[in-house]
Amino acid sequence: MIILKSSSEIEDMRKAGSIVAAFHQAIADMIRPGVTTLDIESFAVRFLKENGARAYTMGYNGYPFATCASVNDVIAHGFPNRKPLKEGDIVTIDIVAEADGWIGDSAWSYAVGEVSDEARKLMQVTKECLYLGIEKAVVGNRIGDVMHAVQTHAERNGFSVVRDLLGHGVGREMHEEPNYPHVGKPGKGFRLKEGMVFTIEPMLNAGAPYMTIDADGWTARTADGSLSVQYEHTIAITADGPIILTAQ
Ligand code: MF3
Ligand code: CO
Repeated sequence: MIILKSSSEIEDMRKAGSIVAAFHQAIADMIRPGVTTLDIESFAVRFLKENGARAYTMGYNGYPFATCASVNDVIAHGFPNRKPLKEGDIVTIDIVAEADGWIGDSAWSYAVGEVSDEARKLMQVTKECLYLGIEKAVVGNRIGDVMHAVQTHAERNGFSVVRDLLGHGVGREMHEEPNYPHVGKPGKGFRLKEGMVFTIEPMLNAGAPYMTIDADGWTARTADGSLSVQYEHTIAITADGPIILTAQ
C-alpha cells in the first residue's frame, strides 16, 4: 500500500530533508585526497546528532553505519573505511536521517581532486538523469514516464542503468511502497498522485548494468569493475509539481 502524505505532513518532512541536504553541502568541501570515508562517517554521526536527527541506517537490517560510502566500482551500500581517498577517485555518500519521525534520504557523488574525463562525464550524465526524472514526476504521469527519461538519457550517453537496486517510497520509514527500477516505458507502471513521497536515485555504470555483492553482505559492485555513480533525492508529488525535499 502506498501511504499518501497530506500537505502538512510533507511540510513536516522538510526538516529531515534539509538536514540531509545540509550534510551534503558540508561534506562537499571536506572530500579531498587523504580524507577517509570513516572521517566522513564520523562527521555524519556528529552532524545528525547536533541537528536533532537520528542516523536511520545504523542498525537497519544490521547495517552498521550512518552513511554508505561507495568508491569507484562500488555501486551502493559500501562500508566507510580507513583507506584514504585518493586523487581521481569518485565516491558516493548516501545518508538517511530521521527527524520529528520523518525520513529524508539522499545520495550524492563527489570527485576526489581531478578525475578522469570518463568519471566526470558519468557524474554529469547521472546528475542530469536525476533532474530529468524529477521533471517528469508530476501528477498524472506514470513511473514509467519518469524512468524512461532517466534510462534514455543514460543509454544515449553510452552508460547503463543498474536494475537490481530500487527506488522506494519514503515516509515514517525509509523503505515504503512503491518500489521500482530506474528504467521504464512511457505510460507504464503506477500513476503519480498528489501526496506520494519517494526517491529518484539513478545508479549508472560506465560498463554493464550487472552487480555483485561482497562477502560483507552489503557492498554492491559493478560485475565488470567499471565505475558507478549515483545521485538521489527524496521528492514529494504535489499539485504544483515535484518538491525536492533534500534539495541542497
Ligand atoms: N539510502 C539507501 C536506499 O536508497 C539505503 C540505505 S542503505 C542501508 O535505499 F544499508 F541502510 F540499507
Ligand atoms: Co534511498
